[in-house]
Amino acid sequence: MEKRLLNKKVIVTGGSRGIGAGIVKRLFNEGAEIIIADIKEDLAAKLMENLDSEKINFVHTDLSKEEEIINLIDFAKNKWGALDILINNAGIEDGFMLSDQSYEKYRKTMRVNLDAPFLCSKYALPLLEKSQSGRIIMISSIQGVRGYKGNISYNTAKGGLINMTRVLAVELAEKNILVNSVAPGFINTPMSVMKDGNLEWDTDWFKDVYLKYEKLPMGRYGHPDDIAGAVYFFCSEDSKYVTGQTLLVDGGVSVTF
Ligand SMILES: NC(=O)c1ccc[n+]([C@@H]2O[C@H](COP(=O)([O-])OP(=O)(O)OC[C@H]3O[C@@H](n4cnc5c(N)ncnc54)[C@H](O)[C@@H]3O)[C@@H](O)[C@H]2O)c1
Repeated sequence: MEKRLLNKKVIVTGGSRGIGAGIVKRLFNEGAEIIIADIKEDLAAKLMENLDSEKINFVHTDLSKEEEIINLIDFAKNKWGALDILINNAGIEDGFMLSDQSYEKYRKTMRVNLDAPFLCSKYALPLLEKSQSGRIIMISSIQGVRGYKGNISYNTAKGGLINMTRVLAVELAEKNILVNSVAPGFINTPMSVMKDGNLEWDTDWFKDVYLKYEKLPMGRYGHPDDIAGAVYFFCSEDSKYVTGQTLLVDGGVSVTF
């Protein structure tokens, strides 16, 4: 198979598991060289087990801390000198309504989901400028384009991320850096496991709303590789005239009512 991202230098935040791991596998198979930036070193080690260690690295990075993001970008600078693709994927959910949300928890979610993509993009910019075709890809959410009850900080951060995508697209077009976002719907990852340990998909509520009343037209959960395919499109030459866009990859959940 032709490797269409051969030698592209890529950072994937939150690449140790879930959607991020799906993105890492897909881009690696397309020939990219990757740095995984995450706090879960054991999971990254497992993912990287049988891969060429020259082409994939892990940098322990707590994305809620600016100094660790600076360290991550320094690592990429020393290793590659330039960067082709930054994928701001890492995210956390807290699941609170306004009435129950503490400011501290709200800030934590904002730090990881919104501040970190800002800081990673800011510090990576000089490296992206050295690429012939720089790309920034934000993993947002359908919760960034709709209001979803009981997740105020997450919804707010993801909505902000989608508009950050537009602003950066406008600001960075003259530097030949394209900025796009992929907004997943319900994807089967550890994030979809609820506080009581059950999968969201298995609750009566989910079965009623999304299956019985057909609010999820494709009738199934998405998988990390469904998202990785859309991310690959935004990394590839096939999207060379696309910037500022958000592609909803959600089995149709956002187009019905
Ligand atoms: N799973 C879904 O249904 C779904 C839906 C819409 C959007 N998303 C988005 O997709 C992205 C990936 O989600 P996922 O489902 O794979 O989640 P996940 O919880 O399975 O994986 C998230 C990864 O981010 C890492 N991470 C979390 N906080 C971090 C921090 N402070 N520093 C560094 N790394 C950190 C985790 O260690 C983990 O490896 C997130 O931005 C999420 O909001 C997921």
